[in-house]
Amino acid sequence: MSRAMRFALLWVAGLAALTFGAAIIVQEQTRAWFERDLSLRANLAVSGARSDLLSSWAADGPRLEAVLGNLAQDERILGASACTTEGLSLARTSAFPAGISCAELIARVRREQPTLASGIWTSNESIPSGNVHIAVLPISEEGVEQGYVVLAQDLSFVARRDAETRLFLLSAFGILAVCASVLTLVASRMSWRDWSEELRRVLRVGGQRKEFQPILSDVRELVDRLMDNEGRAWTPQRLKETLRHKLDGEKVVVLANREPYVHMRAADGTIEVMHPASGLVTALEPILRACSGTWIAHASGTADRETADRQGRLRVPPGAPAEGDGRAARTPNDSYALRRVWLTPEEERGYYYGFANEGLWPLCHIAHARPTFRGEDWLQYRAVNRKFVQRALEEVDSPDPIVLVQDYHFAMAPALIRAALPRANVIMFWHIPWPNAEMFGICPYRNELLEGMLGASILGFHTQLHCNNFLDAVDRFLEARIDRERNAVVHRGRETLVKPYPISVEWPMRQLATVPDARRSRASVFEELGLAEDVRIGVGVDRLDYTKGIEERLLAVERLFERRPEFIGRFTFVQLAAPTRSTIDRYRQLSESVAAIAERINERFASAGWHPLILRREHHEPPTVFRYLRAADLCYVSSLHDGMNLVAKEFVAAREDERGVLVLSQFTGAARELTEALIVNPYNLDEAADALAAALDMPPEEQAARLRSMRSYLAEFNIYGWAGRMLIDAARLRRRDRLIVRLSERIPVAQDAER
Ligand code: G6P
Repeated sequence: MSRAMRFALLWVAGLAALTFGAAIIVQEQTRAWFERDLSLRANLAVSGARSDLLSSWAADGPRLEAVLGNLAQDERILGASACTTEGLSLARTSAFPAGISCAELIARVRREQPTLASGIWTSNESIPSGNVHIAVLPISEEGVEQGYVVLAQDLSFVARRDAETRLFLLSAFGILAVCASVLTLVASRMSWRDWSEELRRVLRVGGQRKEFQPILSDVRELVDRLMDNEGRAWTPQRLKETLRHKLDGEKVVVLANREPYVHMRAADGTIEVMHPASGLVTALEPILRACSGTWIAHASGTADRETADRQGRLRVPPGAPAEGDGRAARTPNDSYALRRVWLTPEEERGYYYGFANEGLWPLCHIAHARPTFRGEDWLQYRAVNRKFVQRALEEVDSPDPIVLVQDYHFAMAPALIRAALPRANVIMFWHIPWPNAEMFGICPYRNELLEGMLGASILGFHTQLHCNNFLDAVDRFLEARIDRERNAVVHRGRETLVKPYPISVEWPMRQLATVPDARRSRASVFEELGLAEDVRIGVGVDRLDYTKGIEERLLAVERLFERRPEFIGRFTFVQLAAPTRSTIDRYRQLSESVAAIAERINERFASAGWHPLILRREHHEPPTVFRYLRAADLCYVSSLHDGMNLVAKEFVAAREDERGVLVLSQFTGAARELTEALIVNPYNLDEAADALAAALDMPPEEQAARLRSMRSYLAEFNIYGWAGRMLIDAARLRRRDRLIVRLSERIPVAQDAER
């Protein structure tokens, strides 16, 4: 529920409680007034008839009855009765309630009010025909009590008036509440507008004074953010609206090496769809679904060609209607185009395995793998970048399209796109860390890479630290002006904003809808792995990559058993490891080393029916991954260096039951946001083992409190917000560029006029 909804509900509930309370108080008060009124009326009636009553008191019954009859003429007086001081009945009118006898009444009066000093005793009684007000008044002569007159008055009109008063009050309060709410809303809207216009005016005026400029640019950005956010959560709908309002509803073109759906020919000849293990894919897929653009990717599946058209296009998710099909227009929310690009084995070897994954990947990660730069890989890298850009240009439909260039596979693409379409909105996002300038400087092609990236209008990293590292590299290696106030680089007359946009996950996660809840996930995982019911489990999910710290993770589990032997036989760590980039030696070595460590630890600690480690070196589809994340008592993400790490966020998203503990490496971007995780240095095995033990010892309330806090953070900072913030920044730049174009078109006109 949104914050505004919660506030409105609270406001309405508060008003209802107030109205209800006020109605009760007013009702009590008016009832007391009515009763006083009835007592007064009884007093008046009896004192008016006092002499007749006295004269007929000792006379025969019919005369006294006649006097009582006169008394009861008032329409509200039901009947009257005369009683002796001993409680005997002298006379009563016919309508006097039969169930009220002199004997009982006088006995009560004597008990409760022996002297009748106030001159009247009253009580409300319930009789079969409704409620009556009974008043007992003494009849005295020369100070001696002769007996009592009892008057019974109808009370039903009080109940009627009560109901009328309540209705009146509720309606009056209701109307008042609606008027007050509308007025408050209008007033707050008006004051928000006035306030923002005033602030913008101050910024305009202040902006002309040089000394205010640095601070004003920060304030201006904050104001724009406030205006754009207006406290609303980021949803696919809001992202679409942002595109429609701020970027004229244009479709986005995404350039990202890994395709979201890979078609594979299975051993039995059928075609299967595979979802690759890639944080980038996890993050981008919901964006494309929301914006229905085109994703240009490397065709990597054995059945990719036969599932696409001649140009390599297909609608995804598989099974989505084709574009010309009427159904495509009806479901724009969920489908988009995938354009596959085929590479020759040489291109793939040079561009993907070589330059991207043996050069840039180790260069950007501090994971102690030496980068390899080969001239022929660099040539292929540049050629493949040109090939992808060519496909992107075929997909765009305006002179200033929005192109989202993703990751280290396409460092040269922004400048190539800019050369072809000078007014394009190129947003480049670098999904992995950016090293410090000294490290980056070892790359023989550093200047070309930096210049390629500076073709983008916006360059995004996960953290400010990586932005700073990039700016330092530009500062050191290029002739460029760096505006540190605005986080911008001006190179060859063009400006690139360099900003942090921490990536996130979809919220709520679509894929979780089909995954069994935590209890059932746990049961199925335990059955699959043959685990005893009382065993606790930890889970790790990664590609088999040396940056993920999988060796260190297994060693930390070993250290846990050494430091806390009570967990032997009681805790199993399950590692799901998806093979990746396996033609590269370093990855093959890693796979072997991980298997050897797992085997050694298992040999050391295993007992009948129990293993400390279960290693699954194979690809797992998302539903399986989420089932394991939901089944786990803890999840350990031990990356040695990671731009963000979305597995950590996926674990938090999966735990709707608010159980389980996240143990997270301090060297991930995620550790800056998921601060309620147990943050560890994965190289420090003692510290990591202690964190694993602390996770297993953690009481359920603390697990829930930590997860609740992280979940509410992710609900707000989700993947739609990530894309939305970049698109809003792109829209702002585009507005400015269009203005510059309009102004430059006007200048010659003005010059002509002067001539
Ligand atoms: C990282 C990169 C992604 C890449 C993913 C999987 O998350 O930032 O660009 O897709 O690893 O690697 P792969 O080489 O299999 O695409």
